[in-house]
Amino acid sequence: MFGRKGSGITEEAVRKALSTVQEPELHNDLISLNMIRDITISGNQVGFTIMLTTPACPLRSQMENESIAAIKRMVPDVDKVTVRFDAQVRTDSRIAGKLNIPVKNIVAVASGKGGVGKSTVSTNLAVSLALEGAKVGVLDADIYGPNIPMMFGLSGKPRVEREKMIPFTAYGVEVISMGFMMPEGEAVVWRGPMLHKAIRQLFTDVRWSELDYLIVDLPPGTGDAQLSLAQSVPLIGSIIVTGPQAVAVSDARRGATAFKRLEVPIIGVIENMTGEIFGTGGGEGAARLMGVEFLGTVELDARIRMGSDSGKPIVIEAPESNAAKSFRDLARKIAARISVMTMAPDPELRII
Ligand SMILES: Nc1ncnc2c1ncn2[C@@H]1O[C@H](COP(=O)(O)OP(=O)(O)OP(=O)(O)O)[C@@H](O)[C@H]1O
Ligand SMILES: [Mg+2]
Repeated sequence: MFGRKGSGITEEAVRKALSTVQEPELHNDLISLNMIRDITISGNQVGFTIMLTTPACPLRSQMENESIAAIKRMVPDVDKVTVRFDAQVRTDSRIAGKLNIPVKNIVAVASGKGGVGKSTVSTNLAVSLALEGAKVGVLDADIYGPNIPMMFGLSGKPRVEREKMIPFTAYGVEVISMGFMMPEGEAVVWRGPMLHKAIRQLFTDVRWSELDYLIVDLPPGTGDAQLSLAQSVPLIGSIIVTGPQAVAVSDARRGATAFKRLEVPIIGVIENMTGEIFGTGGGEGAARLMGVEFLGTVELDARIRMGSDSGKPIVIEAPESNAAKSFRDLARKIAARISVMTMAPDPELRII
């Protein structure tokens, strides 16, 4: 109609087609959610960018396929559709202005009981999110028995620059732990106010990069550290780790009750060490009892323990193992949940 380039395809028609495509987690269409950028039309070819709310989005290919189908169905004369992806993680509205650090979302990993794998889960989730392209940090809030340095293969004291500590980086993840400050093998007796101050300093006295997710590995139980944390920093939510055994249910419940009292939303429950030895079902039972989402299981695998001891997370060391795949899936699921939580207009609504 208008010479060689004039295919008659308009940006408006493309936008109209994309307004029929739903973002499956956010329950709205791509246009209403302002997720479409840089629409290009060249001859019979259409291209655009979908701006995701997390680089770890589990539904990329679904959105890609549905967008292509909608455009081919609704816009005449289109030969080829090219979908590009970019991501911008939204900031937890409760952080804005409260903490003077450039962190967008703070997630706690907790459990009612010790030794269920919080630190392992924190480490592998953090590395998984980094592998997806997110900017991630881990803050080891276990000031009694910090294990995070070992799990990341890190040691030594962090550098201090202009009165702030520079976090270590391993596997693309920024890491800070009281373990870096404590003499090896020495226990520190913390009293209430000191503990509160120490935990707060791990957030505020560290030169964090602009992180999409800061994962906080908590000590076991539901005591002072949890209370301190919830009072010091705005958490987008917590992840509860349990074992597969039936007793896990009551342990997890204790942990969850503490967070609920503190008005920290629970993102969901992960069952760790599932397998022939300990069985399965504890995590799902705990989630059901608490009325929160069951996120999934991670198998018992000796390589996880060996990796923890030698500073090599299983998602790096054995990426094809079931356990590594579970961690990768869980990380995407959690990132998607956080996206939904940051979209909730009223923070009160996020409390489950
Ligand atoms: N799925 C798994 N398979 C095999 N070993 C595991 C698994 N998850 C964790 N472990 C091992 O179990 C031990 C305890 O895990 P971890 O330190 O992560 O637990 P935790 O809940 O953080 O403990 P604490 O309460 O002491 O902080 C570690 O040696 C770890 O390597
Ligand atoms: Mg731990």
